[in-house]
Amino acid sequence: MEKYLINPNQKLSAISRDIYGTFSEHLGRCIYEGVFVGEDSPIPNVNGMRKDVVEALKEAGLPVLRWPGGCFADEYHWKDGIGPRASRKKMINTHWGGVIEDNSFGTHEFFELCRQIGCEAYVTGNVGSGSVQEMSEWVEYMTFDGVSPMADLRKENGSEKPWKLKYFGVGNENWGCGGSMSAEFYADQFRRYATYVRIYDRKNRVMKIACGPNGSDYNWTDVLMARAGRMMDGLSLHYYTVTGDWGHKGKALEFTDEEYYTCLEKSYYMDELIRCHDAVMTRYDPKKRVGLIVDEWGTWHDVEEGTNPGFLYQQNAMRDAIVAGLNLNIFNKHSDRVKMANIAQTINVLQSVALTDGEQMLLTPTYYVFKLFRDHQDSTLLGSYLTTKKLGERLPQLVESASEKEDGTIVSTVVNTSLTESAEILCQIADSKVKGVTAEILSGDPHDHNSFENKNAVFSKPFDGAEATADGFKATIPPCSVVKFLVERA
Ligand code: AHR
Repeated sequence: MEKYLINPNQKLSAISRDIYGTFSEHLGRCIYEGVFVGEDSPIPNVNGMRKDVVEALKEAGLPVLRWPGGCFADEYHWKDGIGPRASRKKMINTHWGGVIEDNSFGTHEFFELCRQIGCEAYVTGNVGSGSVQEMSEWVEYMTFDGVSPMADLRKENGSEKPWKLKYFGVGNENWGCGGSMSAEFYADQFRRYATYVRIYDRKNRVMKIACGPNGSDYNWTDVLMARAGRMMDGLSLHYYTVTGDWGHKGKALEFTDEEYYTCLEKSYYMDELIRCHDAVMTRYDPKKRVGLIVDEWGTWHDVEEGTNPGFLYQQNAMRDAIVAGLNLNIFNKHSDRVKMANIAQTINVLQSVALTDGEQMLLTPTYYVFKLFRDHQDSTLLGSYLTTKKLGERLPQLVESASEKEDGTIVSTVVNTSLTESAEILCQIADSKVKGVTAEILSGDPHDHNSFENKNAVFSKPFDGAEATADGFKATIPPCSVVKFLVERA
């Protein structure tokens, strides 16, 4: 029996809802076909956006969407994506499959998508191949409510009022596809570009996000914080879970037990990465004003056979759901520093929450994890401790987080990473009398997945294996599962 203690007297940090964000790039079938099909498509749409996908994202409570890249962002010139669609410039998407990008999805379409979903916008600007003027004008175009060349242009293009832009990324992976810069060079570029990312509306300040490290590049974090920390609101972190190596990443649906554990072990490394980057950031920012923004995370498997290698299309199984549960619990636990995260990516690319095939759409096991965790959004992280075995060098069998909603309900999400062993837990909630507990579960064989032949093989369902005790609850958590408990107190 594992002991699980939750302490409502220990209120640690607010869990920003934006931790539950996704990323959507002009890559493969993420934007085109995945969300945007155009008004004339036979696929049911509202102003060109797929109804099924928008509904699903709303239902999962998607709080924030990142766009247009990724590597694409540093070769994107936003003025190519405004004005009458028929006259928009066409370009080759050199990073992703060498296909023609016709710019039919641009700034207006992105904000229309966010409006339909009801989520915040996170736009990334071009540092690698764009100018300070171009970036500055984009922010003016999106956010200025007054008379100016860019505000007037936006009005001419049909949007009288500016949009709410919550986050703006000053470049992406500028250590790599965004210009191959050194940390010192980028830090100075960030200061220069960010100076002209003007704040036009004090009540709706745009948060400026600097390009952060690749995985464990702690020097990058150190240099950025030392040279530019005071000018940023957030520093990004990218870390992908690759089971094999970048040459042979491994398949999404075919893997051995050993590969299952390797994948999870590598994914759990996120915890160490956040702790160490946080420690570096804390040297310069002890009050944790600057957020760590994990704006690309998730599994990166080999592409599905027969698909364009540049489109990064992969299936999604229960193993991916376990990865999602691990990472979301880790982000919750570090919510004093992690203020936003965006899984890569939303649809048809990497660890997606939905896949489409023509007019069909399916929800992946990862989607259901986001839905289960939705109750943590904007709740307060509580101190918690769960005894558990180690299954690898650092991978625990059980990984949990607990929070308190505004109405006092306790939310706890527990992931059982074991392939074979269930876990009995006895939970005690300090100084509490418990009225009742309800639970939901996502579980199965790690290879289980939804396909276009069987779209409902995996989904979350009510879990009747939890029983309230006087001061908590007890439950037996099946192998390879993610469980959410909602505890009502007297
Ligand atoms: O998500 C796919 C790519 O991975 C992004 O474009 C880039 O930022 C990262 O290397």
